[in-house]
Amino acid sequence: MRDKYAHSRRSPSGFVLPAPPPVVVAPKEGVVASSFLDQDRAYFHAYSHVGIHEEMIKDRARTDAYRDAIFFHADYIRDKVVMDVGCGTGILSIFCAYAGARKVHAVDASAIAVQAREVVKANNLSDVITVHHGRVEDLQIFEEVDVIVSEWMGYMLLYESMLGSVIYARDRWLKPGGLMLPSFATLYMAPITNAEKYSECIDFWRSVYGIDMSAMLPLAKQCSFEEPCIETVPAESVLSWPIVIKQIDCNTVTVRELETVKADFSVSSIMMESLGDRSERRFHSQQASRSLAL
Ligand SMILES: C[S@@+](CC[C@H](N)C(=O)[O-])C[C@H]1O[C@@H](n2cnc3c(N)ncnc32)[C@H](O)[C@@H]1O
Repeated sequence: MRDKYAHSRRSPSGFVLPAPPPVVVAPKEGVVASSFLDQDRAYFHAYSHVGIHEEMIKDRARTDAYRDAIFFHADYIRDKVVMDVGCGTGILSIFCAYAGARKVHAVDASAIAVQAREVVKANNLSDVITVHHGRVEDLQIFEEVDVIVSEWMGYMLLYESMLGSVIYARDRWLKPGGLMLPSFATLYMAPITNAEKYSECIDFWRSVYGIDMSAMLPLAKQCSFEEPCIETVPAESVLSWPIVIKQIDCNTVTVRELETVKADFSVSSIMMESLGDRSERRFHSQQASRSLAL
């Protein structure tokens, strides 16, 4: 799982619902009228930092999976219109242009869109890719699209709450039977052990500067386990087979379906300390099918 900056995340309760029809005064191509909420401002500001994009692009499993899926669907994408929801630096839009897209609408509300436009220009793709700087909910384009590509996955798959924006774009612009990339996503959970972390945060209190501080143990346990913890754990720390918590069909999922995710499950392990999550996305179409697990 990539380590995006925690402060950049919208809270789970801040799920972005489709915005009401925006009041737009004839924007120029590539300039989107704004209906930013305050909570969105910090989120989009975080995405203007180069570090977060460097980290995402250097995540080879992620970037290769998208590139492979786009090229795998090149026969479908060729001469078609694509929308890249949350284009960041424009990398997925450029893959789509290389796959033969006739037109790519690359949309991002963060100031990174300014750099994306320069990247597109430097690669001589400005006639194919139009970078729109603004929220996709505020976008005004007057054509339907054949393909929507988006890298919307956050911690616990849904924590970033960006999928609502992709659903909005799908329902507004995707042609019937059009291609969603990715098409399916699955959230798994499995019990894990993390002995190093336990020792660092809990066992630490047993003796501090030679003082018996084990009275702190109950509070340390309470505080350590009440907040989710974002870490990469080695495979050997996973204590059982993962359980499927949520399967998402990106072609049909609704915002309402994502408001609450519930799953009944049971695991048994004598070593379990906490539950870890793992997500998988599948790039699948009626034209061809293929599964890429991250
Ligand atoms: C996870 S990053 C992916 C960036 C790029 N597609 C990539 O793969 O490297 C998500 C991007 O979506 C943008 N974004 C999130 N919600 C958006 C919305 N409602 N409208 C426009 N852009 C959005 C963020 O600013 C961010 O740059």
